[in-house]
Amino acid sequence: MTKIRPLLLAPFTKLAGVVLRRRLSGGIDLRTMRFLPDSITVPLKRDGLDPLPELTALSTEEPIKKLATLFGHDIWLVSGYDEVRAALADGDSWSNDLGQFVSQKGRSDEEQIGGLGMTDPPLHTALRQYLTPEFTMRRLARLEPVIERIVNERLDAMEAAAAGGEGGLGEVDLVKEFAFPVPFEVICELLGLPVEDRERFRSLGVARFDLTQGGVGVFGAAADTREFLIKAVAAQRANPGEGLIGGLLREHGDELDDLVLGGIADGVFLGGYETSASMLALATYVLSETPGAMQTLRDDPASVHRVVEELLRHLTVVQLAFLRIAKDDMVLSGVPIKKGSVVGMSLMAANRDPRLVGEESGFDFHREATRHMAFGHGMHRCVGAELARMELRIALRALATRFPDLKVTAPREELEFRKLAAVYGIEKLPVALHGDVAAAAAAAGCPYHAGQEG
Ligand code: HEM
Repeated sequence: MTKIRPLLLAPFTKLAGVVLRRRLSGGIDLRTMRFLPDSITVPLKRDGLDPLPELTALSTEEPIKKLATLFGHDIWLVSGYDEVRAALADGDSWSNDLGQFVSQKGRSDEEQIGGLGMTDPPLHTALRQYLTPEFTMRRLARLEPVIERIVNERLDAMEAAAAGGEGGLGEVDLVKEFAFPVPFEVICELLGLPVEDRERFRSLGVARFDLTQGGVGVFGAAADTREFLIKAVAAQRANPGEGLIGGLLREHGDELDDLVLGGIADGVFLGGYETSASMLALATYVLSETPGAMQTLRDDPASVHRVVEELLRHLTVVQLAFLRIAKDDMVLSGVPIKKGSVVGMSLMAANRDPRLVGEESGFDFHREATRHMAFGHGMHRCVGAELARMELRIALRALATRFPDLKVTAPREELEFRKLAAVYGIEKLPVALHGDVAAAAAAAGCPYHAGQEG
């Protein structure tokens, strides 16, 4: 049987970095660019949780706009809801294969880092067909009690950390103690990684998202997690386990070699880890700052679905869909686009477009946010959407039930939101879990709490 070897499997979460650091086929080395024009970075920046005003204005005034021409390629941004939806629904006109721009010279097979978001049919169709059966409601039902256990364990751990926290103030960093560990454990369960291997995998995963070492650190760590997963596949080949890796080995072990299956697993890890972690952290922030939101989640189980959908829309952590390249000269919602143009679709701007949500685009937990595109749209729509939803519903309801008075303890101007990121997020979220702790610290004149109470 034919073995599948993805041409280019690159991490969509680090898309901007990938595009920047690699060499274009025309021989232009993007690494020599010292900065990106501001116009190009607008969809990757925010003001707190909100899009920049320039982006909001674009989505109503010029929803399809040419931002720049770089190395002979027009760079477009699509930011209106209808325009983004129409563009993503049209699978035939675009290629997602940035490999055509990127030299693979000098990169070993293990370094071809992964995800199906940057592949085109027929390879994309083949890879996706392997993955979708692993994400059916029936398969995911296996994970539901597991997620509940993981969430409860992390809530216990967070409470213990807060009790022993700095200065005895009862504060804890929710990003470190909850937002990253929950999706990490869930993905380990999904993939079926043995418990004894997880600590090593965790340390590689942390390095992968640590931008402090620049591209070298990220790409080195990316190759490490991929190599780890390739070995995990090899180890299970003789005796397939319960998770996704074992399932694919049982069903398609003769078609998929260790490298390809390791690449698929790596793409799942990459697609599902940082995105879900960012959602958990930012959602906690929004819920804790919105009067009545935590209590609604706690007291009204029927609200959970609605609140989570509105959080997904409002936060849209994957700010841009995968970059698309026009296969031919084309017309998009009336605007002519030349073959070879690179097109970014701002999911964030689309999800805040008044045509979707009316003039009030802020977080409203009474809103029925049914048509948002936080998971994209069309043939590359998120494979893990139902798992992500399940995880968010379980985790946020449990958090609100256990700590309904949770308060963020740093003033807004001290919160470290990502500055330029394909996946938006926050580095730390210091919280007090119980209202009395936050109030006592405020009364004691803790500078963190100034202006937070009341
Ligand atoms: C809240 C969490 C998540 C968000 C907001 C999110 C969002 C997205 C978005 C916007 C896309 C790209 C759509 C496009 O360009 O058309 C995508 C693709 C993808 N996501 Fe997610 N995702 C999340 C969680 C997950 C999880 C938990 C997994 C797996 C465990 C996952 C796996 C993938 C994969 C494999 C793709 C590529 C699909 C393809 O190209 O066919 N994601 N996701």
